[in-house]
Amino acid sequence: MGKRQGIGLYGIIGHPVGHSLSPHMHNAAFRALGIPAFYAPFDVTDLEGAMSGVRALGIKGLSVTVPHKEAIIKYLDLVDKVARKIGAVNTVINRDGTLSGTNTDWIGAVKALKEHLSLKGKKALVIGAGGSAKAIVMGLVEEGARVHIANRTQEKAEQLGEQFGCSCSGLDLPSGLEFDILINATTVGMGEEDAMPVEEDVIRGADLVMDIVYSPLETRLLRVARGLGKVTVNGLKMLLYQAVAQFELWTGVDAPIEVMENALKEAVGA
Ligand code: ATR
Repeated sequence: MGKRQGIGLYGIIGHPVGHSLSPHMHNAAFRALGIPAFYAPFDVTDLEGAMSGVRALGIKGLSVTVPHKEAIIKYLDLVDKVARKIGAVNTVINRDGTLSGTNTDWIGAVKALKEHLSLKGKKALVIGAGGSAKAIVMGLVEEGARVHIANRTQEKAEQLGEQFGCSCSGLDLPSGLEFDILINATTVGMGEEDAMPVEEDVIRGADLVMDIVYSPLETRLLRVARGLGKVTVNGLKMLLYQAVAQFELWTGVDAPIEVMENALKEAVGA
């Protein structure tokens, strides 16, 4: 008689996670494929205790979000090269009790962009130098794009630039800077209708504009870019594709992308 498999438990750990869209995507995907699994949000402040719990309960996989992406590393058995390079884990896989960490945020950004263009040889301007920017910059460099990083705190842009071999500056951009792609990797515009990370003039220089902010779905940056006839990519796409990559790592099967995208859109009322 074969070993009976119980229900696979998955979840997201972060603080806060009450508004996380990830449960919508992953549970819809499990249901669509008939996989007996459930994905729950865990609001965690005691990370050490939570990780003992993950091991004791045999939770099969985790998404990791703010503020635990860096701190979780010390509770894992293995951390892959990509996550080490980014310095952050957004995905944990439990293989027979061995917890390994990786990062799919960069895959999310790259896939969202590659729906529209090839990245090889393209020039990108990334605004921001925090955790999200780091994953995006790594993805862009990996795909053969040339990147300029601009950040409010210039020293952080310099650190990132040095690590990934990119030029950098503060938000005052060097004159004559050319780019095909403009990416907002800051929190500017999150929950605010009128804030933009750069002036309209900067947007004119790009062919494609992507925002990691997804609330509002169309930030002022994207609204202005659309008005200027630019291709726009909203923050839901990166969120979708990082989840798609997680789902495939956990289950070993192709993720039902359309199902996940529809669940995401339904959850945000788009
Ligand atoms: P995340 O992990 O989501 O990237 P983070 O690491 O806190 O978050 O990074 C936030 C980014 O948004 C940083 O690049 C930050 O700039 P600083 O390094 O100067 O702090 C940027 N940011 C946040 N608020 C900003 C604002 N009002 N204007 C410009 N940049 C801002």
